Amino acid sequence: MSKKLFIETLGCAMNVRDSEHMIAELSAREGYELTDNAKEADLILINTCSVREKPVHKLFSELGGFNKIKKEGAKIGVCGCTASHLGKEIIKKAPYVNFVLGARNVSKIGEVIHRDKAVEIDIDFDESQFAFKDFRSSPYKAYINISIGCDKQCTFCIVPKTRGDEISIPADLIVAETRKAAESGAKEVFLLGQNVNNYGRRFSGEHEKINFTELLRRVSAVEGIERIRFTSPHPLHMDDEFIEEFARNPKICKSMHMPLQSGSTEILKAMKRGYGKEWFLNRAAKLREMVPDVSISTDIIVAFPGESDQDYEDTLDVMRQVRFEQIFSFKYSPRPLTEAEKMTDTVDPEIASERLSRLQAYQDTILDEITATYRGREFDVYFEELRSDGYAAGRTDNNITVKVKGSEELLGTIRRVKITEVSRLVQYGEIVA
Ligand code: SAH
Ligand code: F3S
Repeated sequence: MSKKLFIETLGCAMNVRDSEHMIAELSAREGYELTDNAKEADLILINTCSVREKPVHKLFSELGGFNKIKKEGAKIGVCGCTASHLGKEIIKKAPYVNFVLGARNVSKIGEVIHRDKAVEIDIDFDESQFAFKDFRSSPYKAYINISIGCDKQCTFCIVPKTRGDEISIPADLIVAETRKAAESGAKEVFLLGQNVNNYGRRFSGEHEKINFTELLRRVSAVEGIERIRFTSPHPLHMDDEFIEEFARNPKICKSMHMPLQSGSTEILKAMKRGYGKEWFLNRAAKLREMVPDVSISTDIIVAFPGESDQDYEDTLDVMRQVRFEQIFSFKYSPRPLTEAEKMTDTVDPEIASERLSRLQAYQDTILDEITATYRGREFDVYFEELRSDGYAAGRTDNNITVKVKGSEELLGTIRRVKITEVSRLVQYGEIVA
């Protein structure tokens, strides 16, 4: 009987890819098979996120839960960003944990499972050229890392302390991964990094230095790939060349993530984001002008230390002007090892909650107006998933989720769909071609 692996993945797309890498290594080298039942697992992994405080609390209660239900002799490993910054503290607090593996040490998974109480959290570890075995959770789309770590020092963000300095993965390896994905039938690749449009600034070793725009050109030259997505770009590095390539290249999906964080130039300065309100508005306007159908998503933090009513109004003003198709919004959460943690002019928690819910309600009104315009329109939808209710779900090029009545034969195909019914999160339609 093969050994069974249960893995829970929290956080961002980079964690999803790290989990895929761990599954690949454990199945190819150690003979593990995936299970979705933690009770029958021989190895339980939690791939953690530490970007906000809540998931960290959740971690210890979850670990306790796994320890209660796990079968005898089963091992528990904590991986990801919380592993990086808490390290051996995790084993102190939860002594039944067998090992701790940081977000930049994923390639050591095959080794740490054999070393009880191992703690591998080196943030200088360079695995930018490690040849991971293959595993993908979806046959239709391939996540591909293009860089590891982050060189920015946004004052609220713990990521540079958990994933280390930024190193780009050599372009030839990325293109080879893309070819492999295309050969196995994926039409879509999703390029991943904390700051993708800073690509090419630093490699480990001698490599041809190309920038993100050139990388996009090379990936799009791979036959069989029809859609390219990427996350996350940084608004500061959205130069004209990049926006023009985005507009011109038909394989690049017309949805852009532009993490705003705040609409106030003062707060952006305190966050060390490197741009102000005007620059952000200018880039978004250029994008809307060059790509009329583009959808723009963003991340917003409310109640960063020092945020006044006027600063907050500036954020709403950017929302009013840009009319984002999607917003991920958060209350500021102080994180260890960050500059902002030491700031004393914190915003009252009640005001923070009020600001967040008012912002979300405002976005809902914008979104209702946007989605109303979808009714009756036709889009090309790439179907990727079956839903239990007799629907197949997919995405348009500009990242709108669409469901149609249908079954397996739709999966992996791109079909023309007319939208018949709209809502905030998902649009319903029928296939017209
Ligand atoms: N470069 C990455 C950022 C990762 S963190 C990316 O662009 O995806 C993802 C988002 O979490 C950030 O954009 C930010 O909006 C939010 N975030 C990060 N640190 C935070 C904190 N301390 N409090 C609240 N939200 C935070
Ligand atoms: Fe974090 Fe800023 Fe990098 S949000 S991941 S430090 S770009």
